[in-house]
Amino acid sequence: MAIVRRSLALPLLAAFFAVLHRAASAAPAAPSPDTSSFLRCLAADLPPQVLHTNASPSYTSVLESSIKNLLFVAPATPTPVAIVKAAGASHVQAAVRCGARHGVRVRPRSGGHDYEGLSYRALSAARPFAVVDLAALRAVRVDAGRRTAWIGSGATLGELYYAIANRSARLGFPGGVGPTVGVGGHLSGGGFGLLLRKHGLAADHVVDAVIVDAEGRLLDRVAMGEDLFWAIRGGGGGSFGVVLRWKLRLVRVPATVAVFTVHRARNQSATALLARWQRVAPALPRDVFLRAVLQNQDAQFESLYLGPCAGLVAAMAARFPELGVTPRDCVEMAWIESVLYFAFYGAGKPREQLLDRGAGPERYFKAKSDYVSAPVPSHAWESAWRWLLRDGAGLLILDPYGGRMGGVSPSATPFPHRRELFNLQYYGFWFENGTGVAEKHVGWVRGVHREMEPYVSRNPRGAYVNYRDLDLGVNGDDDDGGEGGYEKARAWGEAYFKANFERLAAVKAKVDPHDFFRNEQSIPPLPSSRKGL
Ligand code: FDA
Repeated sequence: MAIVRRSLALPLLAAFFAVLHRAASAAPAAPSPDTSSFLRCLAADLPPQVLHTNASPSYTSVLESSIKNLLFVAPATPTPVAIVKAAGASHVQAAVRCGARHGVRVRPRSGGHDYEGLSYRALSAARPFAVVDLAALRAVRVDAGRRTAWIGSGATLGELYYAIANRSARLGFPGGVGPTVGVGGHLSGGGFGLLLRKHGLAADHVVDAVIVDAEGRLLDRVAMGEDLFWAIRGGGGGSFGVVLRWKLRLVRVPATVAVFTVHRARNQSATALLARWQRVAPALPRDVFLRAVLQNQDAQFESLYLGPCAGLVAAMAARFPELGVTPRDCVEMAWIESVLYFAFYGAGKPREQLLDRGAGPERYFKAKSDYVSAPVPSHAWESAWRWLLRDGAGLLILDPYGGRMGGVSPSATPFPHRRELFNLQYYGFWFENGTGVAEKHVGWVRGVHREMEPYVSRNPRGAYVNYRDLDLGVNGDDDDGGEGGYEKARAWGEAYFKANFERLAAVKAKVDPHDFFRNEQSIPPLPSSRKGL
């Protein structure tokens, strides 16, 4: 594999902006899409078994193989003209080059978990696009001695955790909870799980990556340069190129960890516990993670502690005695068993369950997210409980930050929400088809999100890019790449990235000035007319 190498020297900021200015102002318009020529180009450059056009009998099963949200399995959904199920880097490069030549954009798909389906569907049928599916590029190579791993974007978090635990019981990785989540999208958006208070985000532990850029070149960290390397570790997937694989720094885990799950009903003072939780959980020692999940009239408090039960029970007794955790609530296990415990709710599951990539989509869902910077008053929690009584109610998931998160600068990576008390996710789900039922559940998610507005972060109201939410705004169909598109994108861009949004747009203008990697919420190139350039 030939990786293009550039000079190691980082450009000075002024030189960077000068180049950027030239790139943005000199960029010719992207060619208008010529789907027939695109498909002929793919057919000429790819082995037939990796190419699935929408005329192929295999198309639907390949398309749906990793869709997680039934909302986007509908006949009216605009889907790709072709899916390239890449078996090697050259297949991704061919897809990008054919797409760039013939004006057909390519969307990367790793695990297909995007909340809004942006890795495989478009909002509008106006512009044809193709998908490069990376599920087959999922090798995991763990070097336990060096505490690193190379992992293909198409691997799942479950496959990563399984491979690490097979090499060492004393190593782990601070990624998300869902084992079927794709590494490609997860790392692209930051990624957090139960080790975040000790070790920060998944993306904080990326030390190298290999990407196919908008010209179809294969670039590693040195070749892509530090600006692009910064952008791909949290700037959201689908904007800068197709990341093929990542080199991760693994973290040490103790031989024994401790977990508990306790339930407290609303009428058992759950409101007072929540009021206390939001002050306690973000300030606990960083070895303790204690989150809360609210459903119906029940608060479920779940904890992972990096050590034995004695330490966890003592920490709770000292810091949060009101929760009433006793030694009987606590279970000790190896870290990999705790991964299974939180993924599948229960102890004693076989590790191999982590390798199950899941069947087709089984539920409809819609989610939104917030960041909470100051404790929410008790009357607002009471009102949240009332929302949870409504027809169509889903879940509220409260993930505490603090610990290591607070020690990382908000500009160190594109993910800016380092100083928040907790992430609040509003998650609605349902199993029946129909517009009425969908409106009821989506309406609930939007309604409770609206209700919480006075109590969450503001100017801008923050959101987590990996909990993608198109309600925040979308890029238009037009391709002008001008000031208007950038200004419009700030609505959602600054919610996800705050001040980092402009730097992301500057990187985009440098590496993809024609906006080849574009979707409804991809980073637009910073227009050359922006002040300060
Ligand atoms: P998918 O393939 O759909 O890609 C998501 C986005 O990234 C798309 O825009 C896509 O084009 C782009 N992309 C994908 N691969 C790329 C690549 N190789 N290079 C460049 N761009 C690429 N999050 C979290 O932080 N903690 C958690 O615990 C969980 N848990 C969880 C559970 C479940 C069931 C779901 C559905 C989701 C989560 N998430 C999560 C959110 C998850 O992190 C988020 O949806 C990721 O973007 C999913 O990555 P996939 O590769 O699966 O998605």
